[in-house]
Amino acid sequence: MNTPETRVATSVLVIGTGGAGLRAAIELAERGVDVLAIGKRPKTDAHTTLAAGGINAALATMDPEDTWQQHAADTIQESYLLADPETVRVVTEGAAEGIADLARYGMPFHREPDGRISQRYFGAHTYRRTAYAGDYTGLEIQRTLVARAKQLEVPILDSVYITRLLVRDNAVFGAYGFDVGDGTRYVIHADAVILAAGGHTRIWRRTSSRRDENNGDSFRLAVDAGCRIRDAELVQFHPSGLIAPENAAGTLVSEAARGEGGVLRNQLGERFMARYDADRMELSTRDRVALAAYTEIKEGRGTPDGGVWLDVSHLPHDTIMQKLPRVYQTLMELQMLDITKAPIEVAPTAHYSMGGVWVRPEDHGTDVDGLYAIGEASSGLHGANRLGGNSLIELLVFGRITGRAAAEYSTNLEAQHRSAEALAAARAEVDVLLAADGPENVRAMQRAVRDIMTEHAGVVRDEGGLGKGLARLDELETRLADIGVHPDIAGFQDLAHAFDLKAALLSARATIETALERRETRGCHNRSDYPDLDPSLRVNLVWSGPGSVAREAIPPIPAEIQALMREVSAEGKLVE
Ligand code: FUM
Repeated sequence: MNTPETRVATSVLVIGTGGAGLRAAIELAERGVDVLAIGKRPKTDAHTTLAAGGINAALATMDPEDTWQQHAADTIQESYLLADPETVRVVTEGAAEGIADLARYGMPFHREPDGRISQRYFGAHTYRRTAYAGDYTGLEIQRTLVARAKQLEVPILDSVYITRLLVRDNAVFGAYGFDVGDGTRYVIHADAVILAAGGHTRIWRRTSSRRDENNGDSFRLAVDAGCRIRDAELVQFHPSGLIAPENAAGTLVSEAARGEGGVLRNQLGERFMARYDADRMELSTRDRVALAAYTEIKEGRGTPDGGVWLDVSHLPHDTIMQKLPRVYQTLMELQMLDITKAPIEVAPTAHYSMGGVWVRPEDHGTDVDGLYAIGEASSGLHGANRLGGNSLIELLVFGRITGRAAAEYSTNLEAQHRSAEALAAARAEVDVLLAADGPENVRAMQRAVRDIMTEHAGVVRDEGGLGKGLARLDELETRLADIGVHPDIAGFQDLAHAFDLKAALLSARATIETALERRETRGCHNRSDYPDLDPSLRVNLVWSGPGSVAREAIPPIPAEIQALMREVSAEGKLVE
């Protein structure tokens, strides 16, 4: 072995320095457990900073009738009954503590004049339960967690790309990676590993994720380690992503814009949500609003550039500047558009992986001993439609719980068994890519994956299109053998892109194969060839590698929660 490697040992390794990873690392540090957090982009610029409109907890500061049970009922209802009831209980019951933790760390929540934390409406919530900091909620959460981690002196390496989890006899013992700047290899030995490396929504062309994030790293790392993926096909398309400019297509316009009173219109000036959900209008569920916008555009009532109009210009100037400052700034920066005067052109954008690594509801442990997954990397809470604001609270609640579980696992571990073969395989994988000098361009192939997913596995799907998508993926997988990887003076980004491509290909296959298997229309998953919900498919689909999809039963919903649920109506689905 000629390549020098930096060797590091810790009790618990956290992969990902967004909100989920940092919250878990803080829990470990507060418990006095040795922890190392590793990320591939600056911790102050993790994907969590993009989360906009808010974080949910039944604090009942605005609507005293609210309870965690009602939050649980809304979450299960809007998941189209695919959420795991125990996961939902853990998150909704623990949500107030999650908010209290943040407040204790100094999070500047928007507050009422008497000091209560303000809460706003988000779509399909029975009560106002979304706490916020303008529409910079994720940014403020990330800042708060970075500051707390600093106080606790949590070591953070935020320029290291993890390429492989190290596993022996189905127990994790660390991870392998390289520095994106100078290529230094890292061997990290750890008793337990927490995977908090996000989802896979960057594999669509229009997406609210930026370049080089959410390419499905968590899926690939977990599957290679021996884990399964649950509900890969259940991807949330947010109704309002920007159309222009092309290089920022999909950038999010927060649901807060509708929560504060923004309206959606088609090119004819109609408030089209009246056709799809006349009661809830713009505050209908995300899947319905996204499908409605998609349908308007597809049926020729969209803007010439293929969007619909989101208008907040009728709102008081102060409301926009205080509650929607990011939307205001973003539109000025990207389009020189003043949203206090003119509407915004938007279209659905791939926004959130509602599925992810299969985990246990109680501690988010995976199929591999000592390996945990949290945040967008995990699964179980959202089912077929995520309530806006539930992802931020999930990462706080499970960050705490998983940190505790990993701490206990490490404390009780009698010996850490390593494997020279596993390490050699990880090393060889990087060596092979670095030696790759073929004619295929990695970025062009990433673009091809995004084209496939957009054309064949978007808002509305069917058997023929998904089949064609799989055939095109087969072809890309063959071309993978001929890529060229060329790190240069600027750094090892090209090597990172090659691993991103591998992750994207695996995630795309998991998504399409499970989408083919879900022969029904449910929540975000619209099958034009199966337009109805099929009660026999009230199951989770679990993918464990190419061609392998299994059905997993969902435990019963507790009677107390069931009593608070209202019927999901199929009204407004597939109106086209
Ligand atoms: O629209 C938004 O602000 C997004 C929130 C979320 O996805 O939770």
